Amino acid sequence: MSSSASASAAKVLESEQRAATMIVPGPILLLGAPGVGKGTQAKELVRLWGIPQISTGDLLRANVAQGTGLGKVAKEIMQRGELVPDSLVNEMVAVRMQESDTVNGYILDGFPRTIAQSHWLDGRLASQTETLPVVAVSIQVDYNQLLRRITGRRNCPVCQRIYNIYSNPPQRAGFCDVEGAPLAQRADDTEKVFAERMRAYAAQTTPVVEHYRELGRFAEVVGDGPIAAIAAGIVAAVERLRSERS
Ligand code: AP5
Ligand code: MG
Repeated sequence: MSSSASASAAKVLESEQRAATMIVPGPILLLGAPGVGKGTQAKELVRLWGIPQISTGDLLRANVAQGTGLGKVAKEIMQRGELVPDSLVNEMVAVRMQESDTVNGYILDGFPRTIAQSHWLDGRLASQTETLPVVAVSIQVDYNQLLRRITGRRNCPVCQRIYNIYSNPPQRAGFCDVEGAPLAQRADDTEKVFAERMRAYAAQTTPVVEHYRELGRFAEVVGDGPIAAIAAGIVAAVERLRSERS
């Protein structure tokens, strides 16, 4: 990205940032295939709105790292690129959603991913009359770019910052800019497992995207371009959908 493109993206984000402080974001779903930038965008929105990111992938990886009962079940399923059973994921999300930092909303990243999970979530939110209705944003990126993003991704194991050796490299190759920790590569970030994850997405998660499109509180954004400009587009879409509801 050129420095003028970067400066104008930063300006767009800055103006959205001012506007963003004026709304209560409520529950937001970030939908999209593996590698579209759900985690990257969720971290931008956390910074803007001060609401937490609830990433089912991150929560499951934490369980795997800690060797919990859930982690033991999830480990091999995740390594194959398949989905962890709904009941286990729903329970994990239910526990996280009860924490006090979710009062003004939260960003669900990677959940729901099956129709059963979306029905569970819809039922739960419908029973919480004080909670705003969910807004869903689906991020779109083409397959070849996704593969490059997945194989080039690196994460900081300490602060979970997301890098990419091609598009968003750390200042010092292999080490986190903030923590200085050696960067790690996810076990499922191989071409073979990516293909399986894409199959699971097409079969099980595409119907979820259609479900939220039909409900109407839904926007699609292109996930190709500067990260700040994509975040600005998501903020604008959420504000528009929230104002339509008020
Ligand atoms: P999960 O961790 O959710 O993986 P995923 O959906 O495959 O998505 P990713 O995390 O790979 O991609 P992302 O969209 O977050 O992209 P990111 O921002 O990192 O799930 C992993 C596994 O856990 C699943 O396979 C399943 O087994 C299990 N699981 C999780 N949730 C589940 C559920 N609900 N039910 C059942 N099982 C579940 O970006 C990717 C790369 O692109 C990075 O390197 C980044 O730097 C780069 N990038 C980002 N934006 C840009 C940009 N604008 N331009 C260039 N590069 C960019
Ligand atoms: Mg992610």
